Parts: sequence; structure tokens; C-alpha cells
Amino acid sequence: MPSNDTRKSVAVVGSLNFDLVCVLDRLPGLGETLTARSHVTAFGGKGANQAVAAARLGASVRMIGAVGSDSTGEAMRRNLEDNGVDASGLLVAEGPSGVAMISIDANGDNTIVVYPGANAALGPDWVRANARAIEDGDCLMLQLETPLESALEAARIAGRAGVPVLLNPAPARALPDELLRLCSAVTPNETELAILSGVPGIEDGARALLAKGVGAVVVTLGSAGCLYVDEVGTFTVPSYRIDAVDATAAGDSFNGALATRLGSGRVTPEDLAFCNAAGAIAATRLGAQPSIPTISEVDQFMALRRP
Ligand code: RIB
Repeated sequence: MPSNDTRKSVAVVGSLNFDLVCVLDRLPGLGETLTARSHVTAFGGKGANQAVAAARLGASVRMIGAVGSDSTGEAMRRNLEDNGVDASGLLVAEGPSGVAMISIDANGDNTIVVYPGANAALGPDWVRANARAIEDGDCLMLQLETPLESALEAARIAGRAGVPVLLNPAPARALPDELLRLCSAVTPNETELAILSGVPGIEDGARALLAKGVGAVVVTLGSAGCLYVDEVGTFTVPSYRIDAVDATAAGDSFNGALATRLGSGRVTPEDLAFCNAAGAIAATRLGAQPSIPTISEVDQFMALRRP
């Protein structure tokens, strides 16, 4: 039966973590023990965060990933469902779910250590078994916290079905040209861009990725906004001034927002202003998924604020 759902349909292949967060005055040095000001736990993982972001920003979202056979895995599944994400593409892998230990300093900057747990069990076979979720979507969203072969397999499926692929190359690593060729857009920060392209300089790095077949590069620049580069040209979109509390999931909110805007046409400055606003709001709140805004929060923020 044809669906009346006019929302953008996004498939996410990626990670789910349980985040243990400590808020500190400053980050510890090597061998140093510090006492945290406060501590929270939150659902996280780049894949799950981006799935929740796209859902809160109005998309219909399906998640393909892996959780552990522990109670955290079941809680992760319920959490996705509570956020309106279709979690039927979650594999239950024997063993623990993924965890992340996150330290936040007084500027809202963070360091993150991830133990992949079940995320490491997300293989290309499981992605193939869930190919329909990708083929039926308007966009496939990928990150690099799960095995690379799975991301590549998902991108191949999307490529054959003509579905645009959005890759957030985090955590950064060198990537096969085949994966880059399959990407409609990639969204590195400056550090990730340097690792990915091997070329110094933001615009030169972005152009090196275009030369490898990426459709468009959106370089996230933190408080400076973002830079868009494709074969047609380049533009910068400034961000919003905020008092940052925690940068965790700001990038994921940006990416989730972009997945709701990516289509056959070129991404516009207005689209990227929307993404910047989603990321800026997330940075004003503590925790990964608790910080991700809804579409009405972004609309309200943009109506009241100027970059
Ligand atoms: O992008 C933020 C996320 O990175 C956190 O939620 C943490 O789980 C790590 O995956």
C-alpha cells in the first residue's frame, strides 16, 4: 500500500553507545586524577545520535546497527523507539553494548574514549539483510564508528538504488576511494578533513575529496560555522553565538539536520543555517541525545537569533 508519509525517509547505518559523562573544570593530564563537578549518563553513539537528530528534525528514520545482549542493549532499542526511530534493523550481538567515556571541560570541549562492544559486530551481511531500509530511503547516513566494510556495503546498496549518501567521517581515518566516490556529501571537521584528504588547507583538502569523486564537502568549523565546497563553487555559512556547555552531539545534530535537507538539488545556505542552528542548540546542553533539538526548537531559535 503506498504510504501517505511525506516526511523525508533516512536510513542510518552506525553505532550506538552508552555515554558516561564527567564535567570538569579542565581535562586531566597524563597520569593525573581529577574530581568531576558533575556526572550524567546518556544514550549516545554517533549513529544513534544522528538517527535521533534526523527523527526529532522531522524525518522518518530507520536504524541499522548492533547492540549487546546486556540490559543496556535493550534500553538502547527502547530509547530509539521512544524517539520515533524504527529499530527493527538492530542486531543483538552476544556481549556488552558500546560505551563511551566523555570528559567535558569548562569551555564545553570534550575528549571521548569509545569501547565499541557490540558495534564491532555490525558486519556487511547484516547490512545486506537490511538492504530494503536503505533502498527505500531518501538518504543514507553513515559515520565511521562501526566496521568500515559495513559502511562500504551500505554505500554500495545506496549507490545501486540511486539513494544519496551522507558520510560524517568521524572518527577520522583514511578511506577507500570507492567509498568516497559513492558519497553525495561528506561532513568532516578540519582535523578529519586533513586526515581524510592528506592535503593541508581547508579548501584544498575539500577539493582533493571532490577530485576523488565526492559530490560535495561540508567542512564544519565549530563556532565559525561551516564551509560548503562543490564543483560549482564555495560558500561559508556563519554559526550562531552561544554559550557552549558541551560540544558532544553538536556535530551529530548538524548531520541529522543535513540528512533531512539532502536531495537531488544543491544544498543551500539556508539548509546549512538550519544545520548550524541544530548543532548550536545541542552545544548549549549537556549530554549527547538529551541535547539534540526538535524541529520546533530549531525554528524558534532561528526566528529569534541572527548568526
Ligand atoms: O559524537 C558524539 C558521540 O561520540 C558520543 O555520543 C559518543 O558515544 C561517541 O560515539
